[in-house]
Amino acid sequence: MSDARLTIDPHFTVGTVQRNLFGGFVEHLGRHVYDGIHEPAHPTADAEGFRQDVVELVKELGVSTIRYPGGNFVSGFKWEDSVGPRESRPRRLDLAWHSTETNEVGLHEFSSWLDKVGSELMLAVNLGTRGTAEALELLEYANLPGGTALSQQRIDNGRTDAFGVKIWCLGNEMDGPWQLGHRSADDYGKLASRTAKAMRQLDPSIELVVCGSSSAHMPTFGEWERVVLTHAYDDVDYISCHAYYEERDGDLGSFLASAVDMDGFIETVVATADHVKAVRGSSKTVNISFDEWNVWYLSRFENVDKIQGLDNWPVAPRLLEDVYSVADAVVFGNLLISLLKHADRVTSASLAQLVNVIAPIMTEPGGIAWRQTTFFPFSITSRLAQGDALALKLEVPTYETKAYGTVPLVDAVATHDAATGRSAVFLVNRSVSEPVTLTVDIASLGEVSLLESHTLSDDDVYAKNTLADPERVAPRANDSVRIEGGSLTVTLPPVSWTALSLG
Ligand code: AHR
Repeated sequence: MSDARLTIDPHFTVGTVQRNLFGGFVEHLGRHVYDGIHEPAHPTADAEGFRQDVVELVKELGVSTIRYPGGNFVSGFKWEDSVGPRESRPRRLDLAWHSTETNEVGLHEFSSWLDKVGSELMLAVNLGTRGTAEALELLEYANLPGGTALSQQRIDNGRTDAFGVKIWCLGNEMDGPWQLGHRSADDYGKLASRTAKAMRQLDPSIELVVCGSSSAHMPTFGEWERVVLTHAYDDVDYISCHAYYEERDGDLGSFLASAVDMDGFIETVVATADHVKAVRGSSKTVNISFDEWNVWYLSRFENVDKIQGLDNWPVAPRLLEDVYSVADAVVFGNLLISLLKHADRVTSASLAQLVNVIAPIMTEPGGIAWRQTTFFPFSITSRLAQGDALALKLEVPTYETKAYGTVPLVDAVATHDAATGRSAVFLVNRSVSEPVTLTVDIASLGEVSLLESHTLSDDDVYAKNTLADPERVAPRANDSVRIEGGSLTVTLPPVSWTALSLG
């Protein structure tokens, strides 16, 4: 058993926790849209074909903005195909995922689904196979109240009020050689700047996200951000980060420290953005939209699941349907801790993705919908992390990893909401074998008691929720918590994620 200490002081704030930190991402990919959120023949489907059991789970998850419609998909997407009468919408090849897109669900239907789940649309434009003109056309269609051909087309298609989309992504992962229309940083930076200027000329109220790197391990990482921002700094509000983690070669210790990599990624992009700010003598700050993050067994997709063949373009194939373990959920919870620790500069984020595709929610056609292990850290953090993120004093043992060297055994973040007086602490124990007893100095919070405790751990760290056993894993109350004389103690089991709510 190891010991660790933590001091919480609500005066030491990092930044306000923006609700947009708890965004999601829905891509036209695999069974995400079709046979995921939309399954007209399902017993719970409403008149529009949307599964109500899925709607309820998305509401419980607590997602703010939802990025749409991709991802790699958007770089070959013609938005015009997805609006207007359904019977005349074309079937198209989706080159990104080697599938057929039926366009049965498009902008109008998706927006209606967002109303049902209570989330806000974050829209990506295609800067892969298309450019500034098409981005402007989509913006006019979506956001102009009326009086022009495209806004009238929207009205004729059944939507009188503008969609009023606030956050727009200028393409997707344009640094990735796999991306349709992949460009150099110089070419993309110029295109993003032109497109952003034009879009703001149409609607100055929008917020714009320029593509950063698709991983901190891309060969162009760092230089990509510098060059792109040198072109587009004045035109955008956010630069994106994307990161996925998986356990490789049975190295659980390194995998559990994935958030160390995410911390470094964020801090490097902040430094690079601030460098460009300094060089330009700008008074404006560009923040981070971490608009794809998750655990993803990408190597499995690359080596086993990829679809190929000129005569093989399935509709809604089972793709990227990772089944998450307790260990995956602990890493996932730690990634949320990393985002919160940087709440001053990460002001928007999107969990990639939401249903069936590397998702916290799974569905079976005609059958049940269930929560993966990763559902729990997200829903609990989204609900409890309110007010300001706090800078903590953390004194913890360390351990050695192959991937990241010496790393802390425990990671933590806390939030404090001055309006309600409530605080929350989020913790992970990365040890694969030892519990940790943590003493938290909470004297500066005043008289508080424990409102809620949740710990996710299991004797089998690879236990999962599946169709056959959908409730195998769930968090439980942590009975070890004691509060006495301004101090809280809690035991964190090995490979565990914990949330405590105090008030
Ligand atoms: O989320 C899956 C894919 O990961 C997205 O389409 C792409 O942007 C990223 O490479």
